[in-house]
Amino acid sequence: MNEVNAQQARVLSGMRPTGALHLGHYHGVLKNWVRLQHEYPCFFFVADWHALTTHYEDPTVIPASVTNMVIDWLAAGVNSAQATLFIQSQVPEHAELHLLLSMITPLGWLERVPSYKDQQEKLKEKDLATYGFLGYPLLQSADILIYKAGLVPVGEDQVAHVELTREVARRLNHLYGREPDFEQKSQAAVKKMGKKNARLFDKLRKAYQEQGDHEALEVARALLQEQQNITLGDKERLLGYLEGGGRVILPEPQPLLTKASKMPGLDGQKMSKSYGNTIALRAETDELAKQLRTMPTDTQRVRRNDPGDPARCPVWQFHEVYSDDEVKEWVQQGCRSAGIGCVECKQPVIDAVIAELQPMQQRAAEYEQQPELLHNMIAEGNEKAREVARETLQEVRQAMSLAY
Ligand code: TRP
Ligand code: SF4
Repeated sequence: MNEVNAQQARVLSGMRPTGALHLGHYHGVLKNWVRLQHEYPCFFFVADWHALTTHYEDPTVIPASVTNMVIDWLAAGVNSAQATLFIQSQVPEHAELHLLLSMITPLGWLERVPSYKDQQEKLKEKDLATYGFLGYPLLQSADILIYKAGLVPVGEDQVAHVELTREVARRLNHLYGREPDFEQKSQAAVKKMGKKNARLFDKLRKAYQEQGDHEALEVARALLQEQQNITLGDKERLLGYLEGGGRVILPEPQPLLTKASKMPGLDGQKMSKSYGNTIALRAETDELAKQLRTMPTDTQRVRRNDPGDPARCPVWQFHEVYSDDEVKEWVQQGCRSAGIGCVECKQPVIDAVIAELQPMQQRAAEYEQQPELLHNMIAEGNEKAREVARETLQEVRQAMSLAY
């Protein structure tokens, strides 16, 4: 409950700048962002503070990754005229909200986040027994809540962080959304909607609270959203009043689960830096052709004359991403009958990956030659993000009795 209305939800997502982006990022995340930017107001940011939680011993790799990451976003089709692109540490409001949220977040909630222990196990060579690393999911909550984002596109591994965010928002609303004169203020706000709407609102509220009528709740929410005469603060108050709670200071976001990317790595496992099986978006043509030429195939196809089975071959998974039915049929037939060799079979994949990456690399090269343009674009995004962030932060300060 207390969620943002889906039609006008802001979308927010972030990416850690810890190395070069690869085809897995493109197929798994960036294509999705490009689509979302046409459908919602989107905020996409470089999570440089998050990178510090794991790379604090050598942060010197971060700045180049930040710039290259934004360049790759743009090269992939993310558009700064449609989405707000910014850098986390340039919007210090995230840090203040993180601090304020930390006051109300039970330690156990953070210790129980699955990635906390998992990552410590996985990254054994790093000392992650730090305050920053424990607090990292809460920093993510602040990232999300400061924009009152309704939808957070994330992979499976990040859903627990969105869930934590929902719990923290709920707790904050519960603690600070109950003003002593809430009832009176709410009724005064209802009156401001005009006689007809006020009567309708009361009726819908009653239907929801007394009969649990969810449709009435939806209608009442929509009615609230279209009111021109009441302030944002009053809208939030009435959202809470409607549901029988206090004022909604921070709405609860929803994860927007991106379909698991089918992008395989060079060894057939999911493409990921930690498996060392990636093709970088900036890989030189020769380099990526070589990577694909030397990738493993069906291990049971030892000699050219041995028939193979695409189901056992990582190259086939690439055909599934890149090839049309005709080529796929050619692979199936040719592989099983030993009619084609593996080198031959890989060629259409090599061509397709090159065709996909070349225009992106060209655009990236153009941005690389215009550092000033890039700088200005990010500065503008930072400023746009800050405006929204400042407003939310002010509301939270007020709710927590810090507006002097
Ligand atoms: N934690 C995310 C990751 O490791 C990155 C991230 C930081 C993020 N803040 C976010 C993603 C807010 C979505 C929303 O991939
Ligand atoms: Fe794999 Fe193609 Fe070789 Fe068959 S012919 S084993 S699908 S690379």
